[in-house]
Amino acid sequence: MIYLYAILVLAALGGGLAVLLLLAGRYICNYGECRVKINDREPITVQGGGKLLDALYANDIFIPSACGGQGTCGFCKLRVLNGGGPVLPTETPFLTTVELNAGARLACQVKIRNDLEIVVKDEYLLVQRFAATVSAARMVTSDIREIRLKLLDPARIDFRPGQYIQIAVPHKRETVFRAYSLASPPSMAGEVELLVRLIPGGLGSTYLHRVQPGDAVIFTGPYGEFELDTAPDTELVCVGGGCGMAPMRSLLRHVAETAPDHPCWLFFGARTSDQLMYREELEALAQKMPKLRLHFALSEPDKSPDWTGETGFIHQSAERHLQPGQARQAFLCGPPQMLAAARKVLKDKGLDDKAIFADEF
Ligand SMILES: Cc1cc2nc3c(=O)[nH]c(=O)nc-3n(C[C@H](O)[C@H](O)[C@H](O)COP(=O)(O)OP(=O)(O)OC[C@H]3O[C@@H](n4cnc5c(N)ncnc54)[C@H](O)[C@@H]3O)c2cc1C
Ligand code: FES
Repeated sequence: MIYLYAILVLAALGGGLAVLLLLAGRYICNYGECRVKINDREPITVQGGGKLLDALYANDIFIPSACGGQGTCGFCKLRVLNGGGPVLPTETPFLTTVELNAGARLACQVKIRNDLEIVVKDEYLLVQRFAATVSAARMVTSDIREIRLKLLDPARIDFRPGQYIQIAVPHKRETVFRAYSLASPPSMAGEVELLVRLIPGGLGSTYLHRVQPGDAVIFTGPYGEFELDTAPDTELVCVGGGCGMAPMRSLLRHVAETAPDHPCWLFFGARTSDQLMYREELEALAQKMPKLRLHFALSEPDKSPDWTGETGFIHQSAERHLQPGQARQAFLCGPPQMLAAARKVLKDKGLDDKAIFADEF
């Protein structure tokens, strides 16, 4: 009997505590309406208590947020001039001392508790939300799907090659965002292409492997800082693997259309030959681009007995073929270890950090 009383008392205490927390959440932590001043604009009014990133989205200001607000990508940087409270330990790994001194914060980690004054990059204010429909989809390797999205509203997107979009992924009663690079050239403004690798159990990739032609898809964009140097002597060097092919295809297709004589290199690495993709398309591009040099390398050639091309890691191919002393700009895209190795090779060949752009995924 005594145990029953003990259980009842504990249950009552637990219930009471839950009610207290609920009331505290509703009344003590009720921050009411807060005003957020963004750059030189008129302040917007938002409900306090939520994340700054979410409040900005709700007001059609789309800050990059590749991890969907989990505090793991460091993309949602902005400056908080007033009202942001102390910087959290979750933010510091992503912010340099110079950035911290300038008031940099991660928008997904800042909770709105009072009025705020913030500064966002002007280009973020141009990012739009798009309604699209899946127009085609096909597998290009055993786990990578090419997806075409026809834009409905707005019907066109202006972007630079190498940029990415953020797909709205329906998840339970929420929407989460995931970043995907545009594989199509800017000239295809009414229909964009993506390449998506399936991550088993992953929210965004399983969603994009599930959608079918005719399905509606929402995304925001464009994002990304890569800007092509069009000086005729500056070689473009693309190094990547897997879905890193997406932005590199966009870049090379754009150069083929706009400056086919521009000197370009593509180094694409895969483990086995069945993970190579778009070889015929790229070889056809090389017919139109006399200064495009293509290098494919396999890191596990034993598993591809017919392979007669280069072997080893793709940064080793770049090391073999690139001579130092040439003006270059590099675009690296792929998994972190590949990018680190490629970055070191390029720096050894004389490239400055500022001339190396990398998208890690
Ligand atoms: C700028 C940018 C551009 C990108 N472009 C592309 C693109 O063109 N194509 C593309 O396919 N992806 C791209 N990505 C990656 C993409 O945004 C997602 O991170 C990826 O699709 C996984 O998301 P998810 O929702 O499926 O998995 P999540 O639900 O986020 O993760 C599920 C689980 O998988 C693990 N996981 C997450 N990512 C990986 C991974 N890459 N490998 C192994 N395990 C993983 C997580 O740790 C977690 O345990 C890009 C990322 C960035 C930052
Ligand atoms: S959205 Fe990724 S860290 Fe904020």
